[in-house]
Amino acid sequence: MKILVFGGSFDPVHKGHVAMLKKAISVVKPDVTHVVPAYHSPFKAKSPTPFKLRMQMAKAAFGPLDKKIVFDDYELKRGGKTYSYQLVQYLQKRYKNADIFLLVGTDCLNDLHAWKNAEYIFANTTVVSGRRKGFRENKVSFKHLELPGQFPKMSSTRVRAHILASGEIPSDKVPAAEAAIIVKNDLYGLDQHRWLKAHLKPNRYLHSIKVAESCAVLSDIYEVPAEKAVQAGIFHDAGKGLSADELIAFCKKRRLKIPHFEAICRCEPALLHSFASASLAKELFGIKDKEILKAIAEHTLGSLQMSPLSKILFVADISSKDRKYKDAFVIRTLAMQDLEKALLYAANRKLWFTIDSQKWLCPSGIELWNHLVERAA
Ligand SMILES: [Fe+2]
Ligand SMILES: [Fe+2]
Repeated sequence: MKILVFGGSFDPVHKGHVAMLKKAISVVKPDVTHVVPAYHSPFKAKSPTPFKLRMQMAKAAFGPLDKKIVFDDYELKRGGKTYSYQLVQYLQKRYKNADIFLLVGTDCLNDLHAWKNAEYIFANTTVVSGRRKGFRENKVSFKHLELPGQFPKMSSTRVRAHILASGEIPSDKVPAAEAAIIVKNDLYGLDQHRWLKAHLKPNRYLHSIKVAESCAVLSDIYEVPAEKAVQAGIFHDAGKGLSADELIAFCKKRRLKIPHFEAICRCEPALLHSFASASLAKELFGIKDKEILKAIAEHTLGSLQMSPLSKILFVADISSKDRKYKDAFVIRTLAMQDLEKALLYAANRKLWFTIDSQKWLCPSGIELWNHLVERAA
């Protein structure tokens, strides 16, 4: 008896997963296939999407492939972390003397030796994987079946970042039946998009999307997690819907610590929107990541201790594709080559915009400028 097993976070399943399982079923010809969503992958922080929904998505995406698929909640029942060798032991108990084929992503192949109790897996299964364009695996010393053909370069992380940035589900990456579950349950930031659409003017909402997209591009270059960058980008202007009086009241009520607060309230209360946006992200959507909240809070005035994420957002905000002035293109291009130089340029442009429009210059903006010039010297 042949058992094919495919485990993963499936948060969400993408068409690369589906293509691999389809090919594996056609090559291995298993008597039964187990799809086993991880309850808590040993390799990842606990998945934020509830198990029940990830199981629903797995059923929607993989179900049409084969009637003989068992959607297995073994890991949920077990609770805690489950290692692959434990999954293999469970299947051995369930199916005596079966041949077990363990389907893994190509990217896992080179790391398999480091998996817990890897020798047990090698001794008791055939590892099945698909080839991905551009990926080179090391020579493997275990029983390995490589699926014919090539499989698309996709990742669940990228799919989540795409949905969070755009509010849309990429139909080339997510099966339609699964997309319906994502929409129905407001997953991957669709709830934030609904809120932003309701509270921001259409142009401001579009700007937020464009900033999130720029953040995604820069996060790749500067090795910042894409989801964090996109999260900061999409919500950075959430507080823009508040009037000057509302912003002041909002910040006072929460006793937010804002440098030069009294002067800002007197001279340019609109500057408070970035601090309000960070608070809203935390209050409305439970965003707790300090780096994300700090990047949102300082996207207007910067600070003297900006993280790479803060720098990315600051630069993306002033140079996103919806910005029409000619320097936006220059900063956008520069940002892809040198983030520090782009930050200096962006801070410069911001100061000149403020002076040109005869507005009050916040001391924080001047402090940032002096700090960047001193560092660049
Ligand atoms: Fe802003
Ligand atoms: Fe903005």
